[in-house]
Amino acid sequence: MKKMPPVLLHGGDYNPDQWLDHPDILAKDVELMKEANINCVSMGIFAWSALEPEEGHYTFDWLDERINTLYKNGIYTFLATPSAARPAWLDEAYPEAMRVAADGTRNRHGNRHNSCLSSPAYREKVRQIDTQLAKRYGSHPGVILWHISNEFSGECFCPLCVERFRGWLKDRYGSIDKLNHAWWTSFWSHTYTSFDQIEPPYTNGERSVEGLILDWRRFTTWNTTEYLQMEVDTLKQYAPDVPVTTNFHATDSLDYAKLAEPIDVISWDSYPFWHKPDETLPYTAAVTSLMHSRMRGYKAGQSFLLMESAPALVNWQPYNKIRRPGMHRLASLQAVACGSDSVCYFQIRKARGSAEQFHGAVIDHLGTNETRIFREVKELGADLQKLSCLQGSRIHSKAAMLADRQNSWALDLCQGFSRNRNYQETLDRHFDAFTTATGCDLDVISFGEDLSPYSLLILPMCYTLSEEEAQRIREFTEKGDTVFATYALAYVDETLLAHLGGLPGGGLKDVFGIWNEEVDSLYPGETNHTFYQGQEYTIRDFCEVLHLQGAESLCSYEEDYYAGNPVLTKNSFGKGSAWYLAARTDDAFLRKVYSELAAAAGLPVQALPDTVEKHVRTDDSHRYTFYLNFSTESVTVDVPEGTDLLSGNPCGPSAVLPAYGAICIKEDL
Ligand code: GLA
Ligand code: ZN
Repeated sequence: MKKMPPVLLHGGDYNPDQWLDHPDILAKDVELMKEANINCVSMGIFAWSALEPEEGHYTFDWLDERINTLYKNGIYTFLATPSAARPAWLDEAYPEAMRVAADGTRNRHGNRHNSCLSSPAYREKVRQIDTQLAKRYGSHPGVILWHISNEFSGECFCPLCVERFRGWLKDRYGSIDKLNHAWWTSFWSHTYTSFDQIEPPYTNGERSVEGLILDWRRFTTWNTTEYLQMEVDTLKQYAPDVPVTTNFHATDSLDYAKLAEPIDVISWDSYPFWHKPDETLPYTAAVTSLMHSRMRGYKAGQSFLLMESAPALVNWQPYNKIRRPGMHRLASLQAVACGSDSVCYFQIRKARGSAEQFHGAVIDHLGTNETRIFREVKELGADLQKLSCLQGSRIHSKAAMLADRQNSWALDLCQGFSRNRNYQETLDRHFDAFTTATGCDLDVISFGEDLSPYSLLILPMCYTLSEEEAQRIREFTEKGDTVFATYALAYVDETLLAHLGGLPGGGLKDVFGIWNEEVDSLYPGETNHTFYQGQEYTIRDFCEVLHLQGAESLCSYEEDYYAGNPVLTKNSFGKGSAWYLAARTDDAFLRKVYSELAAAAGLPVQALPDTVEKHVRTDDSHRYTFYLNFSTESVTVDVPEGTDLLSGNPCGPSAVLPAYGAICIKEDL
């Protein structure tokens, strides 16, 4: 497999197909990209009409010319397959390629994310154009990565997909009786006698069997992954050396842990809501850092690519606030600090018309280098050149937080607790508390991932847990590591059947040394409290009523009929320890507990000022430590002694970070 060039990549989505009748603009683009220190573009993402204007009639000249010209000017291409949006001729000839919505009606031509991924006709058309692209560009030195389609998402309810769903269920369960048991269909007399009776969860259909809905989501992920594999195989047949990616984004509709399997490199599109009035900047940063860590986790230990980000404002948020001067640099360096080997944008040149005409871009409608955004992009490009040596270096975290997509779906489907389950927000708050209190990177992982690199495993609201996963947690603890779980642990198994014999299920009661008898849901505004090491903390939303069965109670509820029952417990199990948090506490409590847990688990804890993030990448001979200040005020931090790659100056033992400032200290190992 071709190696990525030994630099950090800087570029973005580029759509010359929108400007083919403006050679002057295309020439100017190259000039401006070079000036902005841009060294890569993603091309062809939505270019199907320009590449195949009529069925079977291909027009590659313009793409040949662009790839060659850019390469001669030092700019690499991530070459996309154009399957994310379809030309009108294709939908006219193959209407079955258009997706069917959840109400059973077929979409009409238009938009994107509108393909039935099961459709043999659609797959065949994609295979044909991908084959042409692979044969023509697979050995071009300028083409360094395939970019498959764009941001897969959504589901299709057409008869073909329904048929495939039934086949997938047959493979999964083997018999209709096993399926009936797993979905507990005897409830309300929903028992099936044949797989042919099963329908996906249409809006006016079966919405009460949660196991069915969960399996439908799993199926959609499987079907998308199978489709993705088809595109990968087509490209690899003629261009086996070019690595492959598909750009992920912040969607809940697919389990990316599965889509990650057929691709070589993880890439993703990050669009944080910076400068929100109701959220602190460091919190927005932590939420973004969680997402970067999530992406890093899909290919354990590998660096990833930031495939899209906004160099300026976006056009789709309810309020599209412009990033303040300096924010672009800080946000981009954060991606690199979290393990990205690139900073890429949507988009290089702003479209003149249609839906995204006012979405920020490196080159504005003005068409020159005179904008603030252009200058900031250019400066960032220069910074990335100074960080070239980081390419391929990795983050080696000793702590991981489990944040599985299927657990998220299960919690979403569960009709219990209260509505404010807020799984993602819970993950965000734990991630923020952990990283702020400890200064350590936190990996974010899915079920089934290797736990051996970690000495601390965090399980917020791990509601669904198979016997197998529970066993892995048991072994992790037994052999000497630390596990920290919260309320809602292991209520159901992977089919959503309740664990029998008491909670936490899956045989974890003795690991944690507790029995969780019931869970109280508080109304909004209601609170309980706990005193931990002399300090009072607030509890909201969820209070489980625990009984100790070997664990020690570290603090307890102050109020209500369960006053005196444990809030935080600790149990020794095997050579390790298992901590359990029974209630949703405030962030201050989480920070306190995480600083203790991390120290106990032997992590290199550094308490940081509230506005500062720290990340560490290493290669065989160096450590690169980033400190990023998400604040408009300057701040002083203790740092290791070394050279700040961004300023070129020696640094340490302390450093002043200006407003939105960043340093990256290189040390020899
Ligand atoms: C997504 C898409 C892009 C573009 C941007 C706009 O990430 O991949 O094509 O629509 O959003 O922010
Ligand atoms: Zn379909």
